[in-house]
Amino acid sequence: MKIGIPRETHPGERRVAASPAAVARYLKLGFEVTVEADAGAGASYPDEKYIEAGASIVSGDAAFGESDVVLKVRAPRELEGGAHEVDRIREGATLISFLFPAQAEDEIERLRARGITTLAVDQIPRITRAQKMDALSSTANIAGYRAVVEASNEFGSFFTGQFTAAGKVPPARVLVIGAGVAGLAAIGAARGLGAIVRAFDTRESVRDQIKSLGGEFLTVQIEESGEGGGGYAKTMSKEFIEAEMALFREQAKDIDIVITTALIPGKKAPTLWTKDMVETMRPGSVVVDLAAEQGGNCEGTVPGERTVVDGVVILGYTDLASRMANVASDLYGTNLAHLLDELGGAEGYSIDHENEVVRCALITEKGEIMWPPPKRPEPTPAAKPPEATKAAPPAPARPAAKAPTKSHGHGPAEPSEAAGKFSPLSIVFMVVLAAIWAGLRLQPTASGLDPKAGEFLQHLTVFVLACFVGWQVVWNVTPALHTPLMSVTNAISGIIVVGGLLLATAEAGNAAAWVGAIAVLFATINVVGGFQVTRRMLRMFRK
Ligand code: NAI
Repeated sequence: MKIGIPRETHPGERRVAASPAAVARYLKLGFEVTVEADAGAGASYPDEKYIEAGASIVSGDAAFGESDVVLKVRAPRELEGGAHEVDRIREGATLISFLFPAQAEDEIERLRARGITTLAVDQIPRITRAQKMDALSSTANIAGYRAVVEASNEFGSFFTGQFTAAGKVPPARVLVIGAGVAGLAAIGAARGLGAIVRAFDTRESVRDQIKSLGGEFLTVQIEESGEGGGGYAKTMSKEFIEAEMALFREQAKDIDIVITTALIPGKKAPTLWTKDMVETMRPGSVVVDLAAEQGGNCEGTVPGERTVVDGVVILGYTDLASRMANVASDLYGTNLAHLLDELGGAEGYSIDHENEVVRCALITEKGEIMWPPPKRPEPTPAAKPPEATKAAPPAPARPAAKAPTKSHGHGPAEPSEAAGKFSPLSIVFMVVLAAIWAGLRLQPTASGLDPKAGEFLQHLTVFVLACFVGWQVVWNVTPALHTPLMSVTNAISGIIVVGGLLLATAEAGNAAAWVGAIAVLFATINVVGGFQVTRRMLRMFRK
């Protein structure tokens, strides 16, 4: 099967549907790969790199018209002169690209009429299994980072606070509205530059993620859960939005940079940063509105433009990922490689309607419109059970610097969310041990409990308690702190080494000695590993 990668024609688009590294992945899946000449130029991937990776360089007509699968970044569009990209694709071929079907009625009809099978990567569900194919998240992650870079370019001061001989410079104060994938990336990037970062989201479940990135989670004094299905948000009540905007109005007096990313899938972006808030901000402040393409979160945003209102710069750029075309193309290509693998590679290629990921992304097939897909049971949400956003004053506070975590934001429940609950496995484990314990206790001997059984019972009790306490302690630590936790468990491993050595030498030759020796081995691995981790962590803080 042949894959074709045409050059993107959307004005200003620099990305391409595959980096040379991604081409190598497609080849590994058994596909033949053709790339239109200069397709990767905007992303700094010259044709030679594609040839080195094993692709052939062809004309645009060949990349579109002679391929079984056409991979694109942007949805096919009408070209100057009236021709349409859809008409360049071979009838019956497959197109994989971003499409946003709710806003692409005309394109969908054209694709259907031409008998093209279309998969829209933006429709891939945000379920754990599909994370590696989630091109929306890869793009949002880049956009969140780039939003901070663009803001820092416009902002006339440092992000980090400085004490210099010439005077003191306060750190920049950044507010991130919406802590989904883009928002979390923005928080991480702004913290990385040393700013004080506050964030607000209607979903309580992102609190830990914001905190683990070093941000402060702001709350409002109204109880309402923002959790929708599958880790997405739902529309909030009028009262909640008013309370949220009162919070923002307060923040506007103090904030230097606002990055807005609030979105509810399929809806127009809510207006959350109003004209009066912009006017309250100090001249020189910056608003980056990532939701510009969906109507914008900020009043005054012009999609794709930089505007200045009362000295406040408002950036409504809609091409943030394209501004980092090199990495964006590479990550997008990798997402597509995983999707092609999901489709069975070249050998087992099929559009399987039973496959949830494929069915959700399927827009047209065999002359029919397949979107929207039939309703399925809700995927497991990332969030813990709905819990209202709690009352707390929006007092500004300096966030403590903590190790950043890499988080998808819509993945499975975090271990810390399982705090206080027992998994079925741990319950079975406890029941089995309790049964052994009870069995031994009830074993009758002439003089009561057999001393050996008594000793065993004692060890077993300690073992069970240690497992239980260990499990609970580790599971209650936020994922961001697992690495430092591993480094401090050295102390416990040290005790195990001493105990194991005593057992191995005192009982030489029998089973207990072997258990002791194995314990020494495992604890030693843990100690060495702990020191390695500690060393790496310390290296991160060395200048
Ligand atoms: P997401 O769905 O992961 O995150 C949106 C977040 O907004 C969610 O956490 C949600 O709970 C929150 N939210 C919804 N209503 C809210 C409200 N009233 N107040 C506070 N928070 C609220 O979306 P993702 O992937 O992070 O994308 C964010 C935005 O960035 C989208 O509008 C997306 O289209 C845009 N984007 C823009 C790009 C650009 O170049 N400008 C590139 C990529 C994404």
